[in-house]
Amino acid sequence: TGHVTLDPGYVNTGACTSAITYIDGDAGVLRYRGYPIAELAEKSNFLEVSYLLIYGALPTQEQYDDFADKVRRHTLLDEDLKRFFDGFPRDAHPMPVLSSAVSALSTFYQDSLDPADPEHVDISTVRLLAKLPTIAAYAYKKTVGQPFLYPDNSLGYVENFLRMTFGLPAEPYEVDPVVAEALDRLFILHADHEQNCSTSTVRLVGSSQANLFASVSAGIHALSGPLHGGANSAVLDMLERIAAEGGDVGHFVERVKNKERGVRLMGFGHRVYKNYDPRAAIVKKSADDVLSRLGKSDQLLDIAKQLEDFALNDDYFIERKLYPNVDFYTGLIYRAMGFPTPMFTVLFAIGRLPGWIAQWREMTADPATKIGRPRQVYTGEQERGFVPISNR
Ligand code: CMC
Repeated sequence: TGHVTLDPGYVNTGACTSAITYIDGDAGVLRYRGYPIAELAEKSNFLEVSYLLIYGALPTQEQYDDFADKVRRHTLLDEDLKRFFDGFPRDAHPMPVLSSAVSALSTFYQDSLDPADPEHVDISTVRLLAKLPTIAAYAYKKTVGQPFLYPDNSLGYVENFLRMTFGLPAEPYEVDPVVAEALDRLFILHADHEQNCSTSTVRLVGSSQANLFASVSAGIHALSGPLHGGANSAVLDMLERIAAEGGDVGHFVERVKNKERGVRLMGFGHRVYKNYDPRAAIVKKSADDVLSRLGKSDQLLDIAKQLEDFALNDDYFIERKLYPNVDFYTGLIYRAMGFPTPMFTVLFAIGRLPGWIAQWREMTADPATKIGRPRQVYTGEQERGFVPISNR
């Protein structure tokens, strides 16, 4: 079987070539298709960035309008899929609801699932981008027992999602532009991050020529874990716990450093960044800005800043090059916007979707792609004879 190189966690194993996202983890650099993340976050919008990631270049006005129009026209869910939400308990976590519904989407479009057919891939791309916010909003509505709102296609992508989430049929809903702008920017910051756990999952599933919906559904599950996208909820839980215990960040950091079981500084550390995560720097500024523009203050933001100051000056974190990552401050913004903690990772999924799609398409179009199939080093028993149950 030849020589196998063991690399648990793929710390040093490249599984593909990619022209989508560039990271220099030591310098804290992140670029999508060559464009620095800070510039995109400031000057672009989420749909434009989605186009950029998926098609490789910034769209012309005409290309942009056409793309945005297509996405707008596919925001509705089939009424049968809508009833799917009835089967979940009221307190269902929205992440498994999200991935189940994405998985179920494939059953509604069985005539257009061929990964080798560019038209199938394009329509699946549009359907996913259009429907994920609708599914996410319904997953939320279900938990609060409110009626589902149909999309309003006079609204922009993010505005539509906010209205479906927080609006009520009996009342007009004014989208707060501060909230819409901040959420759009957060989606941009999450849109791709090369071969992270969920993206690698999307590629691995897709490498068997499974369809885009199946691959993305698997990616959503991978994202849900607390070491990955689930970290944004875990950060909030951690901050709330620290606040409830009197707000002593020093005490909490001691527990982290003592490696108490299950106690990590959530929202800190990264496999690739050994410097400040450039996304975290933007999110931190945005948290201050959004909270002040919404006229909100949050004791948890103060605790988060104290925690960061404490950690950045502590040898344990300095030696290990642990800095805040993108998840450290996002939850505080989501909370100020009115999202409950379990929805945070759903928001990450909406943001990451164009990256998953772009990476899946790049892989599918690459003639060098082979089915993903890691090897192992066997450590079990050598051959032995079967013993009948009566003799054991
Ligand atoms: N708190 C305390 N210690 C940490 C942390 C942390 N957050 N992260 C890493 N370490 C320590 C770890 O214990 C190890 O120490 P030692 O060498 O003494 O054993 C050292 O730093 C290296 O850590 P590692 O676990 O080998 O690093 P990794 O590359 O496998 O893990 C990580 C990366 C992101 C999973 C990890 O830093 C972590 O668990 N962070 C907390 C969860 C989190 O915030 N995840 C979000 C990641 S960013 C975006 C996303 O994917 O959502």
